[in-house]
Amino acid sequence: MYPGRCILFYALSLTLADLVYCEMQVKLLHVLFRHGDKVPHQEYQNYPNDPHRNHSYYPIENGGLTNQGKMREYKIGMLLRDRYNKYFGQYYWPDMIYAQSTYFPRTQMSLQLVLAGLFPPKDKQIWNPHLPWSPVSSFFVHYNADYLLFPHLCPQYTSTYARFLREDQTREMISKYQDVMKYLSKYTGKDVSTTSAVYYLYNLFKEQAAQNLTLPKWTEKVYPKTMKDITALDFNLRSYTRDLKRLNGGMLLRKVTDDIKELRTGNLRPSGRKAFFFSAHELNVATFVRTLGTDDPVLPAYGSTVILETLQDENEMYYIRVLLWTGVTERLIVQTVPGCTEICPLDVFLDLMKNVIPTDAEYYCYGTESTNINKRNTDSAASDFWNFSKWPYLLIVIPSIVNFRYF
Ligand SMILES: *[C@@H]1O[C@H](CO)[C@@H](O)[C@H](O)[C@H]1NC(C)=O
Ligand SMILES: *[C@@H]1O[C@H](CO)[C@@H](O)[C@H](O)[C@H]1NC(C)=O
Ligand SMILES: *[C@@H]1O[C@H](CO)[C@@H](O)[C@H](O)[C@H]1NC(C)=O
Repeated sequence: MYPGRCILFYALSLTLADLVYCEMQVKLLHVLFRHGDKVPHQEYQNYPNDPHRNHSYYPIENGGLTNQGKMREYKIGMLLRDRYNKYFGQYYWPDMIYAQSTYFPRTQMSLQLVLAGLFPPKDKQIWNPHLPWSPVSSFFVHYNADYLLFPHLCPQYTSTYARFLREDQTREMISKYQDVMKYLSKYTGKDVSTTSAVYYLYNLFKEQAAQNLTLPKWTEKVYPKTMKDITALDFNLRSYTRDLKRLNGGMLLRKVTDDIKELRTGNLRPSGRKAFFFSAHELNVATFVRTLGTDDPVLPAYGSTVILETLQDENEMYYIRVLLWTGVTERLIVQTVPGCTEICPLDVFLDLMKNVIPTDAEYYCYGTESTNINKRNTDSAASDFWNFSKWPYLLIVIPSIVNFRYF
């Protein structure tokens, strides 16, 4: 069942050539990545005593990508071109890929950049000799309806997480940092009493420092080390239990495994589909890897990318392999799903994941399957979103107090 020759090749090297030599073929790709380096979104990321509160990042918009961040995403595309050159072939056509970002300009733009790196026009598709770029098709939906990439807004998740945070054991984990939170509240002039609040501040400091702004002296006591630890705790808490994993990162895993199952039964449409791209935020990467159980990265850097390869051997058996591109540090690492091998037989993989893949009721958190705006593998489904008769389903269940400040 395990083609030994392939395992050997995979262990030694990470190039597409190996796939060809050992007759294991890529059949489908799912690629999830974090957007590139950004500047603060001052409307959401601020504190009363911030000396840089009114700093202008012009001409970068609020929460927008820096040039370095643009290059970082473009490089993901180049990496994919390099690794899967034969698989994608030289021409782009819309059915070949499904590309979805979140609602925010930085993830929309990151998606465009990744695809620009992956699909520079060649030969007959060159339309402007001075511009090695081709337009590509992609989607996004409003975060209030996007349970695939904003699953933490789904009421089932918010209530489960709220309950979890009230448990004694959880409070104990957090109480360790009570003094730090008091310190932060005092100096920032705002209430910093949750791990999430620390996480938002941590990102703000990081983004300001990356812009060469000098952080206030008082931050030295807690930034970066202690605040980074608290941010890591926050990320761990969000996926701490099996239920939380399933309702958070599990939503995307359900989409991924549904696609792969359709591929196996020959029902994946359109039939030329080669890859699914999800351009999202650090929490998406963080929760997805925790659901897979690979748990790396703890804190996804800009451009962190999880690649899930669906492979097939000469006996038409399917396998899953998970790769991590580290983003900022630019390393490609094979991940091993706990309980399996690097090249994991699909059925073993599905069995290992069965408790962290949402049920229908959990998955379609904003309505039934027919109203599920995320079930959009095809272009026609995108127009579905604009069918206003379906909107009431969405509106009823949108939580009134939501925290959508993903970074
Ligand atoms: C920022 O701008 C506001 C409104 O103009 C002003 O009241 C405030 O003092 C400014 N803060 C800083 C730190 O410059
Ligand atoms: C910050 O400073 C470094 C070193 O001087 C420089 O290379 C970089 O361009 C600066 N970044 C910004 C955003 O000004
Ligand atoms: C809009 O959705 C309703 C309810 O699902 C359906 O009956 C109708 O045919 C749809 N209209 C279009 C134009 O797709």
